[in-house]
Amino acid sequence: MNSNKVIAIDGYASTGKSTLAKMLSIHYNLTFIDSGALYRAVTHFALEGGFLKDNYFDQVALESALKNLTLKFESDKRFLFLNGENISNKIRLPRVSDHVSSIAALPIVRKFLLHQQRQMVNENGLVMDGRDIGTIVFPNADHKFFFTARPEVRARRRYEELMNQGHEITFDEVLSNLIHRDKIDTGRDIAPLLKANDALEIDTSKVTIDEVFDCLVEKIDSK
Ligand code: CDP
Repeated sequence: MNSNKVIAIDGYASTGKSTLAKMLSIHYNLTFIDSGALYRAVTHFALEGGFLKDNYFDQVALESALKNLTLKFESDKRFLFLNGENISNKIRLPRVSDHVSSIAALPIVRKFLLHQQRQMVNENGLVMDGRDIGTIVFPNADHKFFFTARPEVRARRRYEELMNQGHEITFDEVLSNLIHRDKIDTGRDIAPLLKANDALEIDTSKVTIDEVFDCLVEKIDSK
């Protein structure tokens, strides 16, 4: 059913993109790729390699080290491996969230990951979520959605998620990180966070996950 379907979900941080993308991937039997995980992985790599510290960044060293970086989703795309190590939990740490948008604004990093993302689509299609999927990665995607939500709602959701995972963080820290990332993501020169002209905008502030899911399926099936 539904062969060759590419579904792009873009939007602001913590609007429910990955949750919905995962649900759609199961419903339509498509591969799901969380492109943000790839940007988080490169950021983790830069921090671990010592190329990136709070007040220090060696872009030349990172650029050269990228040649030795292999990223692979395994086990039904649930886990992300960096040079053979499962880094799926580490990339969610606040330290990575603090730096990821600066790393994602670098042309060399975007070029490196753009190539990898385009190679991930198979003959069935895929569901990918991120910031530039409908505009740059798959501009010809069959279905495009753009998620927004009020910052406080997004921060509450992410705060609860992080608390459940045992992270030590305050609500205000989560909120300021989301606002900080949105600002860098929308303002960067290359592939900024932007609604594609042909994307359907969905505000997830006041609706449940299941309501958003039903709306997306209805749109996809009616096209
Ligand atoms: O926290 P959330 O799940 O909303 O973000 P994410 O999807 O994990 O993405 C983390 C960061 O990666 C974003 O804030 C962007 O800076 C960057 N990113 C990007 O630039 N382009 C993408 N296609 C996906 C993520």
